[in-house]
Amino acid sequence: MNATRVRIPLLAVCLGGVPRCYSVPMAQPWTFQAEPGLSARAFQGILERSGLAARRPAGDLDRLEAMCRNANILITCRLAEGGGLIGVARAVSDFAYCTYLSDLAVDKDYQGQGIGKQLIAKTREVGGKRAALILLSAPDGQDYYPHIGLTKHNSCWVIRREE
Ligand SMILES: CC(C)(COP(=O)(O)OP(=O)(O)OC[C@H]1O[C@@H](n2cnc3c(N)ncnc32)[C@H](O)[C@@H]1OP(=O)(O)O)[C@@H](O)C(=O)NCCC(=O)NCCS
Repeated sequence: MNATRVRIPLLAVCLGGVPRCYSVPMAQPWTFQAEPGLSARAFQGILERSGLAARRPAGDLDRLEAMCRNANILITCRLAEGGGLIGVARAVSDFAYCTYLSDLAVDKDYQGQGIGKQLIAKTREVGGKRAALILLSAPDGQDYYPHIGLTKHNSCWVIRREE
């Protein structure tokens, strides 16, 4: 089970007149799983709720369907209660040399709680440590990736998609 330690001020007690705050282990309210059958509609929803829709073909369900079906790593983060989709990592890997992480998206209401970082860690776990994890950052991710320990590569070259 995913577990984290959460400080609960309500558990503060007075011992000898000094309030003490205890931390107790709590199950995380969300789970991570490989979800190869993620639907185009569900993918579209998380693109929209994260803000990444502006930089993806979010209105083209056929294309989203192909993106989900042909990716070989799809990790989702869902609420433990109700199963709502709150994060996704979509990647293509040969499981031996390289893993290309194409889309990382976390619902705006849940950002800043370590979900993006864990989605990357799980993607790396599935791709295998022999594979380099490679990605192109959206403008919003420029400061994020160095912050969580990724190193910038100065020899990345691209032939841009035409449509
Ligand atoms: C970028 C994104 C995936 C980050 O996910 P997240 O779950 O909010 O990030 P995390 O909680 O794992 O953040 C880990 C750390 O990075 C920091 N961080 C988060 N977003 C950041 C940003 N945009 N710039 C700099 N630091 C950032 C957090 O404060 C946290 O710092 P800490 O460990 O020192 O407390 C999410 O904000 C998102 O979906 N954005 C819109 C889509 C996008 O731009 N995707 C990336 C390009 S493909």
